[in-house]
Amino acid sequence: MGFIEEIKRRRTFAIISHPDAGKTTLTEKLLLFGGAIHVAGAVKSNKIKKTATSDFMEIEKQRGISVATSVMGFEYDGFKVNILDTPGHQDFAEDTFRTLTAVDSVIIVVDAAKGVETQTRKLMEVCRMRNTPVIVFINKMDRPSKDPFDLLDEVEEELKIKVRPLSWPIGNGTEFRGVYNLLEENLYVFEPNKQTLEEGISIQDVNDDRLVDYIGDSAAELFREELELVEGVYPKFEMDTYRDGQVAPVFFGSALNNFGVRELLHCFLKIAPSPLPSTAVERQVEPDETKFSGFVFKIHANMDPNHRNRLAFLKICSGKFERNTNYYHVGLGKNMKFSSPTAFMADKKSIIDEAYPGDIVGIPDSGNFKIGDTLTGGEKLHYKGLPSFSPELFRYIENADPMKSKQLAKGIDQLMDEGVAQLFVSQFNGRKVIGTVGALQFEVIQYRLLHEYGASCRYEPINLYKACWIRSEDKAQLDDFKKRKHQYMAKDKQGRDVFMADSGYMLQMAQDNFKNIEFHFTSEF
Ligand code: G4P
Repeated sequence: MGFIEEIKRRRTFAIISHPDAGKTTLTEKLLLFGGAIHVAGAVKSNKIKKTATSDFMEIEKQRGISVATSVMGFEYDGFKVNILDTPGHQDFAEDTFRTLTAVDSVIIVVDAAKGVETQTRKLMEVCRMRNTPVIVFINKMDRPSKDPFDLLDEVEEELKIKVRPLSWPIGNGTEFRGVYNLLEENLYVFEPNKQTLEEGISIQDVNDDRLVDYIGDSAAELFREELELVEGVYPKFEMDTYRDGQVAPVFFGSALNNFGVRELLHCFLKIAPSPLPSTAVERQVEPDETKFSGFVFKIHANMDPNHRNRLAFLKICSGKFERNTNYYHVGLGKNMKFSSPTAFMADKKSIIDEAYPGDIVGIPDSGNFKIGDTLTGGEKLHYKGLPSFSPELFRYIENADPMKSKQLAKGIDQLMDEGVAQLFVSQFNGRKVIGTVGALQFEVIQYRLLHEYGASCRYEPINLYKACWIRSEDKAQLDDFKKRKHQYMAKDKQGRDVFMADSGYMLQMAQDNFKNIEFHFTSEF
């Protein structure tokens, strides 16, 4: 197969949702349909759950929270599908944001009874910022659900995106009879069935008498009326508006019952974009350029407790990636080659010889990579879009075991490279401050420092409201600001100036009084 065909057949996407809406279940079902895993149903089976969530880290097993973001690739109907899993817990939102920089489209799972929830809303903001095409899957139709029209209105309003249903549910809860596929004009009759992949019975025409046989008189009548309304209210589906991130196609189903998942997958493969161009600081890079380029969007430590190695997740943006070939690490300014890059195929990793744009490659790493690093065939490119967010929770971190100060320093350094949290050094008292966006990270850091580096730390409270990066062309004003706010100044890991405000009022006053200073709330500016 040629280089261009390889790119065209790739679909790299993430499934996102508020916790419990059914992301894991849907992921499993897609893997089942893709033949990537073979045990049907059995969401409760630990083995499957582990496969689908790829919880590599011990801490994750302990807490039962999907801390890790993993990749699941599989072949289906000539397509190479790459699903990037995202942690559900909101304290790991930053991980999810970074993963979203590596996908070309997104499937959002919404619980039909709960509608749009907070986490979904936040994640959608990131998609909107990047104009990522989204498909909405309204899940759990086998449970008592909100009215489908109300749900669609809610999605439009809450997620601020136009919708176009591509399937339509008939009833819900115990009255759930099936879904009608508006694109294929097929009716799929629902039979609760958790164990097999069998489809419902297909009926081509809504006026077919068999419709009544399957769903009954009144349901058939209501359904025909609703269908008329759907076609009247929503504009026809257009590929362009979906691809531009303006309109979200919507599907209804029940992931747990394998229902509506096949339609979703088929339609997704048909309409979702193949790898899109990527934006570097220097220029836009097309996936079909022959020279290789890619960036690291995630670093995973402690994959195997017996080996210290980390795994850097590299998204390929252009060209073909080949094993044992020299590539340029732009950040370090040196060439490197990789003898054992791995591909992620559902439940297993394997060493690969080549990979294409859209693919994610795992590179064993002993400390050369940090999040956001670019690797190329020689060109000095810097990929954008992997900002750290201005943290909101802060603690001083102190060494609790004087014998292990080296280990502690190394551990903190590496965990920060992974993007677990951010480290600031106070210019006032020289103390180290850890800043995070979620409270759980403090525990994660403490646990991992101990288990992976043998170092103990303790935290001390610090009263801070927000840290933001400052910059100014006006050197005199900047110097004046730094002098006056000496107590509140810190440096980040790259040595940049950070202002640590202890209240919203203080931050506001600083912004009002120092007009020539830019206050930045993400690290990319
Ligand atoms: P998440 O990854 O988005 O957090 O959600 P997950 O798939 O783990 O699903 C959350 C719960 O919702 C699970 O139940 C799952 O079985 C259930 N679920 C998913 N899809 C459907 C559906 O279509 N219909 C119904 N009725 N339930 C669904 P749980 O009891 O919390 O977990 P488990 O013990 O079943 O694993």
